[in-house]
Amino acid sequence: MITRIDHVAIVLPELTEGTSFWVDALGLPLEKIEEVPEQQVHIAMLPVGGAYIELLAPSEETSGVARYLQKKGPGLHHICLEVDDIEALLARLKQANIPLIDEVPRIGSDGKKLAFIHPKGSGGVLVELYQYPKSEYKKDPEFAPDK
Ligand code: CO
Repeated sequence: MITRIDHVAIVLPELTEGTSFWVDALGLPLEKIEEVPEQQVHIAMLPVGGAYIELLAPSEETSGVARYLQKKGPGLHHICLEVDDIEALLARLKQANIPLIDEVPRIGSDGKKLAFIHPKGSGGVLVELYQYPKSEYKKDPEFAPDK
């Protein structure tokens, strides 16, 4: 079962190009900025209504996000849905011949399971799935584990 939208990710060449609109002009709070070295990205998390706008900018020219930017330009990168049983959902999608980037969930550093569905199968939108560890799961994003 899909339980909520966790985040909507937007890719930009520089985080400041995003924060000048989403934070300075629109007025969303900036919860945190961090570098994720394993994905070679800088991330800004902006909470809104129990979900996040996630701004993504490459930290290295060679990163996947840098290649994406060169090919497609800035804009919507992916939507992340929270699910309560990621393995069951991936099995169902596989049975329905939906192309998956991850047939088996990856495990995040915080114990969260995540997987991506290929945009070929979803009308051109990259979809990420999250399942938080049960003990840490809370609806309130203040208590959500670090992303
Ligand atoms: Co994401």
